[in-house]
Amino acid sequence: MQKIIAANWKMFKTRPQAAQTAAELALALRTGTPKGRLAVVFAPFTDIAVVADAVAGVDGLAVGGQNFYPEDQGAFTGEISPAMLRDAGAQWLLTGHSERRHVFGETDALVARKTAYGLEKGFKVMLCVGETLEEREAGRLGEVLGRQLRSALEPLAADARAQLAGNFAIAYEPVWAIGTGRVAGPAEVLDAHAVTRGILAEILGATARELPILYGGSVKPDNAGALVDLDNVDGLLVGGASLEAKSFLQILGA
Ligand code: PGA
Repeated sequence: MQKIIAANWKMFKTRPQAAQTAAELALALRTGTPKGRLAVVFAPFTDIAVVADAVAGVDGLAVGGQNFYPEDQGAFTGEISPAMLRDAGAQWLLTGHSERRHVFGETDALVARKTAYGLEKGFKVMLCVGETLEEREAGRLGEVLGRQLRSALEPLAADARAQLAGNFAIAYEPVWAIGTGRVAGPAEVLDAHAVTRGILAEILGATARELPILYGGSVKPDNAGALVDLDNVDGLLVGGASLEAKSFLQILGA
């Protein structure tokens, strides 16, 4: 499976800063990405067009939106539609990120609507799942991942399920490892990814084997190689260490 290394810039970078980083990525990747990997940059809304312009024509480097509202247009003050993101140059959408769930109160039901809507509109969608420290310590990992995956995937109609391979990825991000410097250990990552693959198989059957499962949470250049080589780890979702082109490129090639 092609590994996906995704950058989540979160709420960082003005347009000039985004243009600079994107130009550095485009220059470094002009002859292709390391090991044929796919790089995706999830940029803030105001940066998407700038980044898309800077990386146009670079094979293996795609741009995504971090958030959207699941309608084409309408009276939804402060929101942005997938159509607008496509117009700006986004091909990917992120759903279910823990900051959306825990800081902005997005429910499983909204995450499910967004996931289905993004796929229906022809985007590639990356759905994030992951447990809090409290949930992990209470032995609830499987239950939480099961709830997050089932609520988003079970409602998908048969035709949507048939389109998932090649258009859909999962990012497993333990909430306690995001932005904390506390990366999950290899045993924890192996276990969570195996649990995720098993739940996907229960919901989707054979398609489960074709869906990339990325790991995210305090990925850095010095731990990326070991993480990305683990069984069932098909890529990485990188926050802090994706902001500088140099460290993101090191992770991309790890
Ligand atoms: P981090 O963020 O790499 O800074 O921990 C990961 C993420 O939130 O996607």
